[in-house]
Amino acid sequence: MFDKNLIDLSVMSTEQIDKIIRKAKKIMQSPADYRHACDGKILATLFYEPSTRTQMSFQTAMLKLGGRTIGFDNPMNSSVSKGESLKDTITIVGEYADIIAIRHPVEGTAAAASLYAGVPVINCGDGGHLHPTQTLADIITLSCEKGRLDNLRVGVCGDLLNGRTVHSLIKTLAKYPNNSFVLISTKELSVPLYVIDILEKNGCKYEISHSLADAITDLDVLYMTRIQRERFASEEDYQAQKNVFVLDKEKLDKAREDMIILHPLPRVNEITVDIDDDPRALYFKQAQYGMYGRMALILLLLQDDEFFVENRPFVVSNHHCNNPKCITQQEPYLPNLSYEKLGMVMCGYCDKRID
Ligand code: CP
Repeated sequence: MFDKNLIDLSVMSTEQIDKIIRKAKKIMQSPADYRHACDGKILATLFYEPSTRTQMSFQTAMLKLGGRTIGFDNPMNSSVSKGESLKDTITIVGEYADIIAIRHPVEGTAAAASLYAGVPVINCGDGGHLHPTQTLADIITLSCEKGRLDNLRVGVCGDLLNGRTVHSLIKTLAKYPNNSFVLISTKELSVPLYVIDILEKNGCKYEISHSLADAITDLDVLYMTRIQRERFASEEDYQAQKNVFVLDKEKLDKAREDMIILHPLPRVNEITVDIDDDPRALYFKQAQYGMYGRMALILLLLQDDEFFVENRPFVVSNHHCNNPKCITQQEPYLPNLSYEKLGMVMCGYCDKRID
């Protein structure tokens, strides 16, 4: 099955992903050529959760392409506050806009929205699940700054359980040859099993570490992440995890000179500010690359008839997802969608095992 939504970057072929990167690089080289590329088109940004980079870079991307934007950044200022369902909101916005960028605190929401939009839907983060356009920013940075997306030893550090950017990045880099991962976290915040399954299925080497100081010595890339306070059951649980991993000058001194430091941002103390001027610190540049990636994505989804995203062959099934964080728990009219992976039945919205 093919469609024009971006829910999960890792379901795309590497050729399709490379096409987005090439387009982003062309836009970076001559942005003026694209000033009217989306004249008359409207992007809706529906942000049910706070954002600085993703929302504003999507809006800037559309404005730089000559298009316009509508939307909300606080659902309480929309009819969501009156109890409107996701289906009804999306059906209506799909009539107003040519493309929708959505962020939501509940896993699988972007996939659910894509059923009703009638226009391309872009996942801008669905709970602790995925954040594919952040991954675009990450891999464009790798392509421009390291010159490759393969043969990389990548350390990912922080909240690997709840960090949707980590899940999207690992799933995508696992598609390229000879990438290996060092998963640096506490036991409580280790990467979900379904991500480990993907690493193993792709034959990727990975190590688990509980020490940033030890792991940092032999990395091509260090991907730091914030502890996701908003995903914790209690403040006490969060306090026990915050500040366990902090990248400071002392640890950075142990790293290679050609290692680059990425972070999806926002940061909350996990990289000390005195590192910002180190040439290896690329997290602000990474956010800039993200805007060009989003310009490329909008263009390809709206204008390139040959640019389709391959989705899993979903089936409507009797299996109901029991993940309490899945959108199917909140929007009861959603059809039960599932797909098979390695003999297991997975939820078509949140990717959790349901058989
Ligand atoms: N990286 C990222 O998603 O940032 P925002 O939450 O500010 O959009």
